[in-house]
Amino acid sequence: SDRYAVVGNPIAHSLSPQIHGAFAAQTGENIHYEKLLAEEGSFADFARIFFAAGGRGLNITVPFKVDAYHFADELTERARAAGAVNTLKKQDDGSLLGDNTDGAGLVADLVDNLGWQLRDKKMLVIGAGGATRGALLPLLDEKPQLVHIANRTFSRAEQLVAEFSVRGTLSAGGLDVFPGEFDLIVNASSASLGGELPPLPDSVIGPGCRAYDMVYGAEPTPFMDWARERSAEVADGLGMLVGQAAESFYLWRGVHPEVAPVLAGLRARLA
Ligand code: ATR
Repeated sequence: SDRYAVVGNPIAHSLSPQIHGAFAAQTGENIHYEKLLAEEGSFADFARIFFAAGGRGLNITVPFKVDAYHFADELTERARAAGAVNTLKKQDDGSLLGDNTDGAGLVADLVDNLGWQLRDKKMLVIGAGGATRGALLPLLDEKPQLVHIANRTFSRAEQLVAEFSVRGTLSAGGLDVFPGEFDLIVNASSASLGGELPPLPDSVIGPGCRAYDMVYGAEPTPFMDWARERSAEVADGLGMLVGQAAESFYLWRGVHPEVAPVLAGLRARLA
């Protein structure tokens, strides 16, 4: 069978082996997928050994996505825009293609799983770190009316807006002033990881507002609780996780797995 893995540090709690195992069973693809720990600062050595030993593809998670970006021989457009690589694929000529499937996974979850269309919508994205950068190109491809990036550190939001403005209508702000109300709010800040809530005014919640947290867990995040208490429909990032995995699987195997049953299975085990 063909060998794949996810590498990170820490890696023990990664759900990727379960997800890709389920995709393989579903599609009949003969793959072996494991989780591997690498030491910080040693990604290039790790990857060289993995591919020299016959590895066909690698998923990359925290803290190695920028290392993988530099390691790749060739980049997809969305990986270049993200400045980070979460998927490496060994190509027929032996070279390594770097892709980033995180944003596509988010869009697939929003549009296909949740039915939250983005076209002509006013979107608020909280945070201006790697998670936002990774998602912007696929989000803008859905043609929202506006993507407002609000960040604790205003200059980082401004920087992203300057960089991506050729691809859509964007604006930047801090967490104090917002341009009206929104149809969709995506929390891409790492605040939820620390059990914190980015301080948002109620006025950002538009009619029929939907709120998405890229973080997932057994319990709703403080951001999800905050939004639900204000009548927004809410979702966490588990579907994005499965969605990015499905995009990676497709890049490697040329087959689109079905996401819904795998997501339902994971959700049941998480609860
Ligand atoms: P990631 O790759 O997860 O996006 P990152 O690049 O470290 O990680 O970015 C984290 C993001 O979460 C940043 O936008 C950060 O805001 P700053 O740019 O001002 O640091 C944001 N963030 C982290 N903790 C936060 C909190 N408690 N409240 C609001 N924003 C927070």
